[in-house]
Amino acid sequence: MEFLKDLALPQSAEHIELMHYMLVLVLFLFIPFISAIFWGTALSLFYKRREKVYLDEKYRRFSKDVIELVTINKWVGIILGVVPVFTSILIFSQLLQQAETTNLSFLAASLILITVSLIFIYGYRYSFEKFKSVNAIVGLIGLIILFAALWVFVTGMTVAAFFGKWTPSGSISDFFTSIVIIRFIFFLVASFAVTGGAILFGFFYADNARAKADEEYGKFVKNIGLKITFTATILLPVIMFFNLLIIPGDYLSGGVFAYIVIGIFLLFLGYHFLYMILTRFSSKFTALLFFTLLFTVLTIIISDQMVISNSTKKESVVLAADFEKYLADLKGESGPVEISGEEIYKVKCASCHTFETKLVGPPHNEVVPKYFGKEIQLIAFIRNPVKINPDYPPMPNPGLKPNEAKAVADYVLEQVRKNLGK
Ligand code: HEC
Repeated sequence: MEFLKDLALPQSAEHIELMHYMLVLVLFLFIPFISAIFWGTALSLFYKRREKVYLDEKYRRFSKDVIELVTINKWVGIILGVVPVFTSILIFSQLLQQAETTNLSFLAASLILITVSLIFIYGYRYSFEKFKSVNAIVGLIGLIILFAALWVFVTGMTVAAFFGKWTPSGSISDFFTSIVIIRFIFFLVASFAVTGGAILFGFFYADNARAKADEEYGKFVKNIGLKITFTATILLPVIMFFNLLIIPGDYLSGGVFAYIVIGIFLLFLGYHFLYMILTRFSSKFTALLFFTLLFTVLTIIISDQMVISNSTKKESVVLAADFEKYLADLKGESGPVEISGEEIYKVKCASCHTFETKLVGPPHNEVVPKYFGKEIQLIAFIRNPVKINPDYPPMPNPGLKPNEAKAVADYVLEQVRKNLGK
């Protein structure tokens, strides 16, 4: 994956933020679609098999309808199934360009597997139309590859989310770490819920709805859709809870919780619509349910992105600092016009700090030695102070640019070293 890193350009802080938004958008296109494809194929194969055993025409009909519903058509398959993974690889290669990470290799592997699996699955889907005998084996192979692909994809995303806490060994055992397993189950359950919603919506809402006219068939499909959605949405909060438990505390922020709360609220709204569909069926509710579930998924994606952005904060600071330098080079401003850490210190820090004595903030000679050899952490703190010592008030954000923060950090570290004679 080295060539991807060569493509990487220095990023400004705004640019980094923008890439996080893009990642949310890309995942919001990809996850519901690939979810429906995965479970839709599984259901189609399952009912295909049942048809053989029970010789019931409605099983065959459902098997065909459901695969057609979820795959839409092959262009959609490429646009929503393949392009987003490719885009997310590009985004991660920019975001994590500072770091050695296996995450890109995982994502690249999943891209290849997803592409191959979609070829099989679309082959299965079109075999319903073109041939007399349906090629279930092709569908099954596609499903198995897709299962593997999604597992690898979740592993890649997990490396990004736990960046700094978990360095994958790059071996098979990475796939079986508890974090990956919990997140993969989370993914499977959430996608099961979306698929249930998509079935109810797709069969009953659209104008040419497949199940509207035929009452018996309609009942049968409604039953399947309700069962799936109900099971999945009941399990979802439990898994959300476990997922929350494994996220390291310092990656959590108010925003992460806020989106989880919104997600839970949407789920409850979903239960309500499910109940309405069960008691007094109206196709309107299937649409409401489906979109509620989609938005629940969106909140999960956003809260996960916030975790990723928290876990890659340090890398982002360094990236942005590089960008300032890059820009200065372009403008020909680097070289003689050095920004002086000492100047900035006098203006921005000296009002609260000295090296020897306590003012508003602690004396540097006491608190800075712990940053020896960890300048990146010091820069991150100066750019974005967090509460540390309960004896002091929190330090306000001095609003420095990345390169200024670096200059001050250099200066402070050097002075403290001198003062302590190290
Ligand atoms: C308005 C007052 C104020 C200003 C201005 C200020 N600080 Fe602080 N600083 C504090 C306080 C208060 C703390 C203690 C915070 C805590 O422990 O939660 C602190 C803590 C620190 C620490 C210790 C962090 C740690 O890990 O214990 C460093 C290093 C530091 N400041 C550097 C700076 C630098 C560099 C600047 C100038 C860019 C600066 N401060 C400007 C008030 C200030």
